[in-house]
Amino acid sequence: MGTARSAIRGSFFDFVDDPWKHPDDEKKSARFIQDGLMVIEDGIIKDFGSFETLSANYPHVQVTHIPNRLILPGFIDGHIHLAQTRVLGSYGEQLLPWLQKWIFPEEKRYSDLEYARKGCEHFFNNLLAAGTTTCQAFTTHDATVADAFFTAATTRNMRVISGVTGIDMFAPEGSTDTPENFYNDSKKLLEKWHKNGRNLYAITPRFALGCSAEMMTACQRLRKEYPDVYVNTHVSENPTEIRVCLENHGTKDYLEAYEKYDLVGPRFTGGHGVWLSDDEMRRISIAGAAVSFCPTSNLFLGNGLFRLGKAKDPNQPVKLSFGSDIGGGNRFSMLHVLDEAYKVGMCNNTMLDGSLDPRFKNTAEAERNKLSPYRAFWSITLGSAESLYLQDTIGNFTPGKEADFVALDWTGGQTGTAWHTEVLVQDGPTTMDEAANLLFSMMMVGDDRCVDQTWVMGKQLYCQSTAKPALAGKY
Ligand code: GUN
Ligand code: ZN
Repeated sequence: MGTARSAIRGSFFDFVDDPWKHPDDEKKSARFIQDGLMVIEDGIIKDFGSFETLSANYPHVQVTHIPNRLILPGFIDGHIHLAQTRVLGSYGEQLLPWLQKWIFPEEKRYSDLEYARKGCEHFFNNLLAAGTTTCQAFTTHDATVADAFFTAATTRNMRVISGVTGIDMFAPEGSTDTPENFYNDSKKLLEKWHKNGRNLYAITPRFALGCSAEMMTACQRLRKEYPDVYVNTHVSENPTEIRVCLENHGTKDYLEAYEKYDLVGPRFTGGHGVWLSDDEMRRISIAGAAVSFCPTSNLFLGNGLFRLGKAKDPNQPVKLSFGSDIGGGNRFSMLHVLDEAYKVGMCNNTMLDGSLDPRFKNTAEAERNKLSPYRAFWSITLGSAESLYLQDTIGNFTPGKEADFVALDWTGGQTGTAWHTEVLVQDGPTTMDEAANLLFSMMMVGDDRCVDQTWVMGKQLYCQSTAKPALAGKY
């Protein structure tokens, strides 16, 4: 069989470095090609550059022109829950009672395979409509649900990380599993799915509060036997949760409950990390592990304000992904996640600018809290890829990587009337700064209506103008 070659022409914006490393000139971290060409072969980027220089090298290739759009790498959602799609926006509770009242009953319904399959459809349709092409997802305690998740991801050829969820405490009967079953299910699923196509497996202790010493030992055993898989969990999300967790595990802090079982290292992600101490952040940094910043969820559940500027301390930088944490978070859109992340930084700076109490003044950390468009869009593309050790596979348009991308419409929704886009709406951006201004406008003023098209491995899987309602059907 011959190779399938095609090309995309348009305005491209991606990243080659962490913009926090270039506070005086963030443009050094990015690439903007006003009229570019991306050549794709069998779903992989073969060539990337200006249309003028590259097109002569590919005289016979079929070119799809996407005009009046900014083409970015597909967004990465570092922390999301498959089985919470139907309970977005559940009213009135903080984390622990919210789990009991809304989440565990809904996740249990996924043990009906038809319900789970339909849930997977909702989930992936919503992701693609939001421009998200990769996610690290929780499933449920039931192995058939993880299997349905990987099957649905494979149908779309999406790069995903997931696994069966380990929980043997805190949840009601019927929503837990024994450590032994969890170990056996994980092993079977991992052998079936890890590195099968674009699927990657994560050992998934739900959170230390819900895992006994035996459950954590099962995770430790799996990690030892399969050192190249991921570990995905929650860490230090909510003060009550932390208190109970420390009592259960007898540790000095939340992170130690995972360290005790050798789980913290490369390819470990702890979701939230709102209340991590400076010392826990230092240990995460040294271990090469990651935190997923979930601002929509932290605000919806009232968890608190993640210290982004502290996590980006150059002396102990923490690898970060950003996550929607559906359904603690109330929207799939990573643009919305960026919107809330920006506001969290601004709130933190009310303390750090010294206006409330001069003793807390820290201008360096305050500067790092400011989520510029460069920092923001790096965080949901190459930055998240780096936190997941996938920077050689996804995250930007460097040849050799997988051709996942999103075409953004800077006039979508309210953005067409925003004052700082008005002058650019007609002709589009001609410089990197103009493009960055449009990106900032889309994250602060825009929404899903800015996501015009989503492509996975060089194939269009979503187009706004032809999209069917994602939630059709009786569920
Ligand atoms: N901690 C344990 N489970 C969950 C969950 O489903 N959502 C959130 N936000 N935190 C958790
Ligand atoms: Zn979560």
